[in-house]
Amino acid sequence: MLDHDRIRRDTPGASGRVFLDSAGSSLPPTVVLDTAIAHLRREAEIGGYSAAAERTTDLAAVKTSIGTLIGAPASSIALSDSATRAWTDFFYSVPLSPGDRILLCEAEYASNAICALHRAEVTGAVVEVIPSDESGRIDVDALQDMLDDRVKLVSVVHAPTNGGLINPARAVADLAHQHGAIVLLDACQSIGQMRVDVDELGVDALSATGRKWLRGPRGTGFLYLRPGLASTLHPTALDLHSAQWIDRQTYRMADDATRFEFWECDVAARLALGAAVDYLLELGIDQVEEAVVERAEYLRAGLREIPGVTVRDLGDRKSGIVSFTVDGEEPDAVRDRLGNQGVSVRVSYDSSTRLDMTGRGLDSVVRASPHYFVTFAELDTMLAALAGE
Ligand SMILES: Cc1ncc(COP(=O)(O)O)c(C=O)c1O
Repeated sequence: MLDHDRIRRDTPGASGRVFLDSAGSSLPPTVVLDTAIAHLRREAEIGGYSAAAERTTDLAAVKTSIGTLIGAPASSIALSDSATRAWTDFFYSVPLSPGDRILLCEAEYASNAICALHRAEVTGAVVEVIPSDESGRIDVDALQDMLDDRVKLVSVVHAPTNGGLINPARAVADLAHQHGAIVLLDACQSIGQMRVDVDELGVDALSATGRKWLRGPRGTGFLYLRPGLASTLHPTALDLHSAQWIDRQTYRMADDATRFEFWECDVAARLALGAAVDYLLELGIDQVEEAVVERAEYLRAGLREIPGVTVRDLGDRKSGIVSFTVDGEEPDAVRDRLGNQGVSVRVSYDSSTRLDMTGRGLDSVVRASPHYFVTFAELDTMLAALAGE
C-alpha cells in the first residue's frame, strides 16, 4: 500500500493544482529537487569537477538504480539527456543497407518516424508500418506476415504519447527475433508508471526519459542495450569517455553501454534522476502501477458519464494516459478552460503521432495523465470542472 500522506508531503507542487500532466513533465518529489539544488550549490562552492569527484559513488549508483528498476546490469545502461537522444543514439548506430526494412508501429512518436524516414533517405532502406489490430495494439499476426530477413529493426512504442494504449512488446520481440531483427522499445511513456523489465519484454534496446512518470528532472534520460549488443555497434560519434585514445593511430571503444555516453553532462540532473528512481523503487513499481491504473480507470469512467465527452484510448490493457475529446469544443479550449480552474491537462496533436491520429481522423485530443500522487477527490474536481458544474 502506498503511503499517500507521505507522498503528498513529498510533492508540495501537487497541493497548488490538480496536476494531470505526468505524461508531459511530472512534479518531482522534494528529494529530487533537493538533490539537484544541493549539487548545484556545491559546484558553486568548489567547482564542478571537485563537486563531481565527491559524488563518484553516487553517480555510479544512478545506473545501478536504473538497472534495478528495469532488471538489467548497470553496464547495459547509458545515461542520456532525453528519450529522443537515447533512441536516436541507438537507432543511428544500427547498420542499414539499400533494401533493408525498418518497421514502425501506428503509435510511432514523431521524432522516431522522422529519424526512420531520414535514414531511409540516406541509406536506401525502406520504412514500413505494422498495422494495428481492432483493439489498436500492434497486430502481431500482420507482423508475422511482414517479417523476413531484410527487416533489420522493429520499433515498438510501448505506450504512446496520445492515449492509454500499451503495445505487446514481448510478442513483437519474440517474432522479430525469429528473423534476426533488432527490437528497439520506446519506453518513454511507460517507464515509471508500470513494470518495465527488459528480460520479461525481451527487447534489445530501450529508450526512456527522466522527467515524465519517473518524476526526475528535465534534460535526463537513458538508453538500455542488451548485454553484448553495444560492443557490436558503432555509435555515430565518440569522445574520450565512450572510447580511449590509445596512440597516434588507435582508439578503443568501450565494450559496454558507455560506448553511447559522452563525458560532459549535467551532474546535478543525473544525481537527481538517481534520487527519482530510488524514490520510485522505495514505493514499489507494482504499487505505483496499481495506483496509476486505478486513477486512470476512475477518470475514464467519470468522463464517460459526461454528455458529449468521448474517451479516445485504444487497447485492452491500458496505461495511465487518458485521452478524450468534447463535442463542439476544441481540445485547446478544453485545456484552457480547465487550466483556468486549476486543472493541468495537455493537448496531444496529430503532429506527434501522425500515423495513429490520421488513421482515426483526429487532429488533437485532450490528454490527462494522473500519477499516483493525485487524489480521487482531485479527479472529481477535474470531472466537475469539465462538466461545467
Ligand atoms: C512515446 C514518446 N516517445 C518519445 C518521446 C520523446 O521524449 P523526449 O522529449 O524526452 O525526447 C515522447 C515525449 O513526449 C513520447 O511521448
